[in-house]
Amino acid sequence: MARYLSYMDHNFISISDLTKEDILSLLQDAAYFEEHPNSRLLEGKVVATLFFEPSTRTRLSFETASNRLGARVIGFSDPASSSTSKGETLKDTIKMVSNYADVIVMRHFLEGAARYASEVTDVPVINAGDGANQHPSQTLLDLYSIWKTQGTLDNLDITMVGDLKYGRTVHSLVQAMSFFSPTFHFVAPALLRMPNGYRDFCRRHNLTFDEQEEFTERTIDSTDILYMTRIQRERFSDPREYEQVKNVYCLKNSMLEGSKPNLRVLHPLPRVNEIAYDVDDNPKAYYFQQAQNGLYARQAIICRMLDIPVGQK
Ligand code: CP
Repeated sequence: MARYLSYMDHNFISISDLTKEDILSLLQDAAYFEEHPNSRLLEGKVVATLFFEPSTRTRLSFETASNRLGARVIGFSDPASSSTSKGETLKDTIKMVSNYADVIVMRHFLEGAARYASEVTDVPVINAGDGANQHPSQTLLDLYSIWKTQGTLDNLDITMVGDLKYGRTVHSLVQAMSFFSPTFHFVAPALLRMPNGYRDFCRRHNLTFDEQEEFTERTIDSTDILYMTRIQRERFSDPREYEQVKNVYCLKNSMLEGSKPNLRVLHPLPRVNEIAYDVDDNPKAYYFQQAQNGLYARQAIICRMLDIPVGQK
């Protein structure tokens, strides 16, 4: 199996940069790390985590992934504590951090910021979310979660619910699943429907999809993966629009009564009001395990960026 990702420079910017073989190989590595989470594979390496936007899971799981592999971690979780607050440009920040780190994990509020960062440094850049655009490491852990719970990635019925306009995780997931013949149901209010570019992507790749505004048991009952998302308040330019849609959907435990035995409820988290707490004890609720899978997926990503062999293929 090729060790290099199929695009140059070992960056992990968009899930669309990966081939099907890249994805499957990274999932195998994630499975290896689930069995062997602690090792010294990154001994002597420094991982920088630069978070220009808030995060709990992504930053802490990247940092845990690094620590468990023996790397040291530098960085910031709040740009106000960095020289960005004095007016330093992203380019200069990246060039400085490149002097100190072997790999840069960056979350930024601007779409395209991670790609730009990768163009001003030779150090590998991992996109930990760029605005409403992409969140590829989330997608890898989503794929790993789907693969683990369904036993396959092929021919699955996937329902995405909520903010499909600004939700970068659903954008990346649509692209990644295109290799595996999914059927998509996009459930969103008109204001937050899946953007044109991604609907066109589905058409170009002959992916079956439909769109609905209503979120009902009827949709849930036929689906294998129910992917809930938060309404992304921070992306709205008009707060009145957010008020119109903020609590538009809420999954309740009773809505899962007729669902398929293999159904799993995923959510990239954080949730706000879109999954009732009574769902948490349902064995079909998988969002906390999904977040745990992020540790293994991110160990796989960091090692791949640094071209460090993982276990036996
Ligand atoms: N899923 C996710 O990106 O969570 P955080 O914003 O907490 O990192």
